[in-house]
Amino acid sequence: MDYQELLEQIEADIAPLIGSGTPAEYIPALASVEPRQFGMAIADLDGKVHGVGDWRTAFSAQSITKVFALALALAEGGDSLWERVGREPSGNPFNSLVQLEYENGIPRNPFINAGALVVTDRLQTLTGDASSELLKFLQEESGNPDVAFDAEVATSEQENGDRNAALAHFMASYGNLDNPVPALLDHYFWQCSIELTCADLALAARFLARHGLRADGSRLLTRSEAKQVNAVMLTCGTYDAAGEFAYRVGLPGKSGVGGGIVAVVPGLCTLAVWSPGLDAQGNSVAGVAALDRFTTLTGLSVF
Ligand code: DON
Repeated sequence: MDYQELLEQIEADIAPLIGSGTPAEYIPALASVEPRQFGMAIADLDGKVHGVGDWRTAFSAQSITKVFALALALAEGGDSLWERVGREPSGNPFNSLVQLEYENGIPRNPFINAGALVVTDRLQTLTGDASSELLKFLQEESGNPDVAFDAEVATSEQENGDRNAALAHFMASYGNLDNPVPALLDHYFWQCSIELTCADLALAARFLARHGLRADGSRLLTRSEAKQVNAVMLTCGTYDAAGEFAYRVGLPGKSGVGGGIVAVVPGLCTLAVWSPGLDAQGNSVAGVAALDRFTTLTGLSVF
């Protein structure tokens, strides 16, 4: 398949949507990003990357980091993680508090904020420095030492972090966190602030297309764990729009409020797309449309 030609076709098809939607407004450092940007990259299993548009412009990874944190926590600590966090779609916004009380402080899945806080807590216990471990992993898998924390975004998150603090304290009251809440929030906010390009993101996610194998050929996850992470991405990776995303795109995918989305075609390639305008559920409007176009034009999906 000629990936370059395909990407150019997709870019032309979705051009009218670039700039639609609204960049995340609840984090001031994200609200000021120029919305009329769009980039898309495809990495094959051997690490060859193709891209179009702003595919080499760095953006805020935000919740996309939740996939990598989950993979590292599973790799380091195994299955016991699932005693603390579920694997069902929430059907609620990513920062919702409501389910937590009647489900006794056990978040529905690792990709809503409450679940991601549990995963980061676990990773902190397992490694002693959750956010740095995550950054190191992304740098290694992308082969790009410039993948970095963005201090302005992390500070902005911290200053607007009451909702995440509430989620964390609430779970702590149920005994579902090991680490002190302020330290955990710190790691979570720095984790969310990581900035990378579509090229970096597509490369870094390749272990999910390679059934658990890292860029250097070593094993991060078992084949079965890689399947499990992909499955949770498909069912929970785009919050209360996961059903619509599966319907339109038909691939495991994870979005972030920075406007990025990563998607996986197991055994073939990874896709990364970025455009800052978000829909009401927090997913990139042009990004979802581009992935929809990809699976429609190629017939590639997990279905
Ligand atoms: O926790 C937050 O509010 C953000 N730092 C991350 C949220 C996010 O990307 C959710 N995504 N769609």
